[in-house]
Amino acid sequence: MQTDLRGRDLIGDLDFSREEVETVLDVAFDLKRKRALGEPHAYLRDKVLAMLFFFSSTRTRGSFEAGMAQLGGHAAFIESKTTQIAHGDTPKEIGEIFGRYFDGIAIRHVDWGVGNKYLNDVARNSRVPILNMQCEIYHPFQILADLMTIVEKKGRDLRRRKMVVSWAYAASYQKPMSVPQSLVLQMPRFGMDVVLAHPPEFKLMPDIMEQAREQARRYGTGFEVVDDMDKAIQGADIVYAKSWGAMLTTTDQEQGAKIIQKYSSWITDERKMKLAKPDAIYMHPLPADRNVEVTDGVIDSAQSVVYDEAENRMHAQKAVMALTMK
Ligand code: CP
Repeated sequence: MQTDLRGRDLIGDLDFSREEVETVLDVAFDLKRKRALGEPHAYLRDKVLAMLFFFSSTRTRGSFEAGMAQLGGHAAFIESKTTQIAHGDTPKEIGEIFGRYFDGIAIRHVDWGVGNKYLNDVARNSRVPILNMQCEIYHPFQILADLMTIVEKKGRDLRRRKMVVSWAYAASYQKPMSVPQSLVLQMPRFGMDVVLAHPPEFKLMPDIMEQAREQARRYGTGFEVVDDMDKAIQGADIVYAKSWGAMLTTTDQEQGAKIIQKYSSWITDERKMKLAKPDAIYMHPLPADRNVEVTDGVIDSAQSVVYDEAENRMHAQKAVMALTMK
């Protein structure tokens, strides 16, 4: 067990080794058990987390805020538009100054080509851990919660389990590609055979794909890319289907929306779920575009674990905060 996580940042999924992620899972399960039993676990008494948001959130804000309170500390919700960032506060100043006020700085910044750099610039100038609440490249806390949920449903030995990470249709806006990218990076390390499915215009970033292939090689797992959702789902143990934008094809919103329109058949529906194993689970980080991205019949079915995933955000985040901010 690797426990030397004090003071560490979590920005990209591979910032923590596989053994360190195992430690996070162990602590997360312990904290979930303690909360169920009403056992106090104030590991972060008097500690304060800054939560700096450049983009909206339901689950991330709620789970970090509740999690810090349960750990005996406090989380300060800060919307970038109510700060002086637009009037000149640089990432260096946020890192230097917030690093002196707070014991950890969590940031959500998903702007294409901007967000991840911002987090790293703050991290270089901060004396406290930087936690990535989602950037345009990674969503590491979502994936820790997803991994925890998969372990709960399928057991700790996940070797040869088939996990499908699929693009799905949703016309509301060009959603970030951070969730599929984080999934293909983290899941091969835990033994799952990952099949990534998307239409040709919805490729993930080439360097992320190379790192995902490297993880699959290192851990002896399968990693396949297909452009057919039905084919991907055949025999799957886990179906994780969500929309993301065609940012590698075009960053123009209008053009991106036109491309998305071509693929309205990429909905997760009852017929497609029948192609998976009978005990397959359906996953989605939420928010989902209901009856566009996934039917009510699937997301509200017994196979759907979306609310467990949402709950596990809190336990996984509490584990990382307790380990890094102590
Ligand atoms: N899954 C997720 O990150 O949800 P929010 O955007 O509501 O935080």
